[in-house]
Amino acid sequence: MIKENNVTIKYGVIGTGYFGAEQARFLSELPDAEVVAIYDPANAAAVAAEIGADSEPSVEALVARQDIDAVIVASPNGEHYAPVLAAARAGKDVFCEKPIALKYDQCAEMVSTAREAGVNFMAGHVMNFMAGIRRSKQLINEGAIGEVLFVRAIRNGWEDVQQAISWKKMRELSGGHLYHHIHELDFVQSLLGPATQATMVGGNVAHSGEDFGDEDDMLIITLQFPDNRFAAIEYGSAFRWPEHYVLIQGSLGAIRIDLQEAGVTLRVGGRTEQFLLHRNEEEDANRTAIYAGSSTDGAVQYGTPEKRPPLWLRGIIEDELTYFHGLMNGASPSEEFAALSDGSAATAAIATADACTLSLREDRKVKISEITGV
Ligand SMILES: NC(=O)c1ccc[n+]([C@@H]2O[C@H](COP(=O)([O-])OP(=O)(O)OC[C@H]3O[C@@H](n4cnc5c(N)ncnc54)[C@H](O)[C@@H]3O)[C@@H](O)[C@H]2O)c1
Repeated sequence: MIKENNVTIKYGVIGTGYFGAEQARFLSELPDAEVVAIYDPANAAAVAAEIGADSEPSVEALVARQDIDAVIVASPNGEHYAPVLAAARAGKDVFCEKPIALKYDQCAEMVSTAREAGVNFMAGHVMNFMAGIRRSKQLINEGAIGEVLFVRAIRNGWEDVQQAISWKKMRELSGGHLYHHIHELDFVQSLLGPATQATMVGGNVAHSGEDFGDEDDMLIITLQFPDNRFAAIEYGSAFRWPEHYVLIQGSLGAIRIDLQEAGVTLRVGGRTEQFLLHRNEEEDANRTAIYAGSSTDGAVQYGTPEKRPPLWLRGIIEDELTYFHGLMNGASPSEEFAALSDGSAATAAIATADACTLSLREDRKVKISEITGV
């Protein structure tokens, strides 16, 4: 493909299912980018033909290509670790879908390998790129709601029997709700810093049996932070009354981010102000309509390479990959996205998730330092 600019960044994409295919499509349309190769054990042919990329037979073959500058990893969650290490060791910059891995130790190794190789290692935590989330953080940084004292994040709904059991419902490949939807935990920590202690209760309360995967469908988390700050997070697919929101309680006011009927409300004293969750009214309306029509757990996006993500999600893919592409063109990480650009925020989120998992298993409160060793 002939690009207009002199410098063309060349990408490889590992995993071209629902999400990776869309990322490949977006990158292949940028004037100074080219997707030259993809690897996917099952869905490569159609995507390769659509975007004019080669289909490689393995991760090793893809990362060995001299013409690839950066690799996008969008395979199932449990299949991120090996390709990220292989790509970084081959000197490729990496953008990795969330959760970057399913164990803290693996995340830490991915971060240090990328650092030693001198390559970017960005995590695809989409919430960071939502316009309303960015505005909320800006307002908080300006002191609009005072000190953040407590955050409640809820992402739940009801899951019916599906035609086939997706890897997204299997613990070994997805990590279950907490890991698969690490977004909310990461967002909480972006507001309060890394948690110091965690508890989690829950289990599989309504989805046992051969029709379902083996993930827990009800998880209830409490987190403690320095200076007497707290958070509570709920995840699951055993909730008949779906909820998806983040409520940030400050000493002067509060912000409620509604991810179901998309929109954000700032409340200070008797005054309220509302703003969009996404980039425009159309994207917010698109999200609201999808959630209103969803009969599944209100959170999992089932897809195939042929199915395009909804408008609002394509908007975020555009924004986050434009940012990553900027890094590839030599831009320095912005202060806002610095912890996202080197994998450190994603790693801190998995450390806390691992502490939650240990808490559930051993029925006790767990210090995050038990996981990280510091
Ligand atoms: N940020 C978001 O909003 C968002 C949304 C959807 C998916 N995701 C993430 O993107 C990733 C992919 O999810 P998806 O929805 O596209 O799933 P998917 O099942 O549609 O696609 C996964 C693809 O990976 C391929 N694959 C399987 N094993 C592989 C391996 N070992 N190496 C390379 N490819 C392999 C499969 O053949 C499939 O084509 C996941 O990590 C998921 O969490 C993020």
